[in-house]
Amino acid sequence: MQNSGYEGPEGFVEFERRGGEKEDVAPVGPRCYGTGVYCSFRRGYSFLMQKLRTIFSQYIFVLLLLCSPATLRAQAANPLPHIVQKDGHYALFVDGAPYLILGAQANNSSGWPSMLPKVWPAVEYLHANTLEIPVYWEQFEPEPWHFDCSIVDTLLAQARQHQMHLILLWFGTWKNGSSHYMPLWMKRSPEKYPRMIGPDGRAVDSPSPFSETTLRADINAFSALMRHLKSADPEHTVLMVQVENEPGTWGCVRDYSPAAQRVFESPVPTQLLTALRMSATPGGTWHQVFGEEADVFFHAWAVARYIEQVAAAGKAIYPLPLYVNAALRNPFETGHEHNYETGGATDNVIPVWKATAPSIDLLAPDIYMEGSDEYLKVLDLYHRPDNALFVPETGHTPAYSRYFFAALGHQTIGFSPFGIDYTKYANDPIGATELNEKLLEPFAINYKLVAPMQREIARLNFEGKLQAVVEKQGIPEDSLDFGPWQVKVSYGLGQFGPGNHPPGNPQPIGRAFVAELGPNAFLVSGFFCRVDFQPSDGASGKQREYLRVEEGTYENGKFRAIRIWNGDQTDWGLNFASVPQVVRVSLETY
Ligand code: DGJ
Repeated sequence: MQNSGYEGPEGFVEFERRGGEKEDVAPVGPRCYGTGVYCSFRRGYSFLMQKLRTIFSQYIFVLLLLCSPATLRAQAANPLPHIVQKDGHYALFVDGAPYLILGAQANNSSGWPSMLPKVWPAVEYLHANTLEIPVYWEQFEPEPWHFDCSIVDTLLAQARQHQMHLILLWFGTWKNGSSHYMPLWMKRSPEKYPRMIGPDGRAVDSPSPFSETTLRADINAFSALMRHLKSADPEHTVLMVQVENEPGTWGCVRDYSPAAQRVFESPVPTQLLTALRMSATPGGTWHQVFGEEADVFFHAWAVARYIEQVAAAGKAIYPLPLYVNAALRNPFETGHEHNYETGGATDNVIPVWKATAPSIDLLAPDIYMEGSDEYLKVLDLYHRPDNALFVPETGHTPAYSRYFFAALGHQTIGFSPFGIDYTKYANDPIGATELNEKLLEPFAINYKLVAPMQREIARLNFEGKLQAVVEKQGIPEDSLDFGPWQVKVSYGLGQFGPGNHPPGNPQPIGRAFVAELGPNAFLVSGFFCRVDFQPSDGASGKQREYLRVEEGTYENGKFRAIRIWNGDQTDWGLNFASVPQVVRVSLETY
């Protein structure tokens, strides 16, 4: 008798036969061990045939149920989180309205139940609304095709208890350019799940994006994760999923394995050339088309093509927003130095990624550059008409805290310092030697201020009404243009007295945002700065008058005034120090 079976990640798998029975049975399907949940399907083929008619009629019933007005109404009332673009502005819609991710990412090895008690207090101290936390392939699929969803279930349950959303980080084929999170059964078969080969013929510590077996295994595992989320998370606790982590390769520009080399010497896919609007003659090889950048573009395409297939499979099951995070190169780099992680979504290859991985909703920069020139440049590079800005990782030392405002000023959908837990792991020098409340304070005041009004801020940004500035070393003043009004933001003045020569803060920690609520009406906030409005047509001799400045709080999305600022509190402009305060301002000229 001919063998029957299916092509699994481990190659051809024969159908199991029950003891002695001559009956073909379907393959052991993806199993998921959850907390008290054990889902597997093993159905006899002939049994299925016999039951086909019954199942068919049940499907019709289920279909009718799915299309019933009540179900459609429920789905409309509880839509999946999704990214919306309108007039060049982006928002993450959660429960049908723009949502701002006030994120915190835990350390790499903190996504274990034993560590969670050290995670939640730090995240809560920050006033975050979303925890970013990894799901490890090695834990999730300890044996081929056996999926352990117990930790995902724990995360879901605890996030709900803590009234927190989650962004899950799929530590799959790539983690920081390597494949260290592959399950043991894969690591033990490097010939089957190969690493890249360098130009000298030696293996490189990075998975080959040309390995079909690895790709199929990742598709399988990621699909199981998304399938589980679909059934276990009707509340949409999980807002987005990051596919892989900083994919690409350090120290070797691309894969030189025979399989990769064959493709490298073949014509560049026409679809890519068209998407890049390149006038190169079709049929040109990578080197002929891209010259000195051929290796970099080729690797970006290879990694993006791989990840697209993983993402598309997961999205077909459960269409949550998916993103890829990037280890950056120097944003001012224009040369051909390959001193960064190639293959990832670095700024120079964003168009390659966009063209090759359409199932990825956004490409997100991990920003570990303390200097304001670099930081702001990165925000510019990733805030594009074809890309919603999201900062999924950034440093947690105090200097980074002001960049939350810079990201807001670039219409970000979210922001997240990295390494937020009390496990006492210090990623100094890109982070602090010890993470504690004092160190987190500058971030905590940001989120404390914005958390009650995050929906309002997300909406204003989606409508293009919000602008923000952050203090740059040696530059004590900024300005914002709101048409008839110019807004001057000064740093280091104190809260009282004239402000002709602002000295700047001893450290550049100032930040402010201003959002237009209507004609001559603004929402204003900041830290360590003075904000003042002047009419744009100052030459006409007109002066500004604060008609009313109300400080307030947001409750259930509505502004509630708690007092009126006047006298010292407005005579010298609107002064913000370390206290989270927000004011609504109405202006007039005289
Ligand atoms: C960036 C990575 O994406 C994170 O997982 C982590 O390794 C940091 N670098 C360093 O702490």
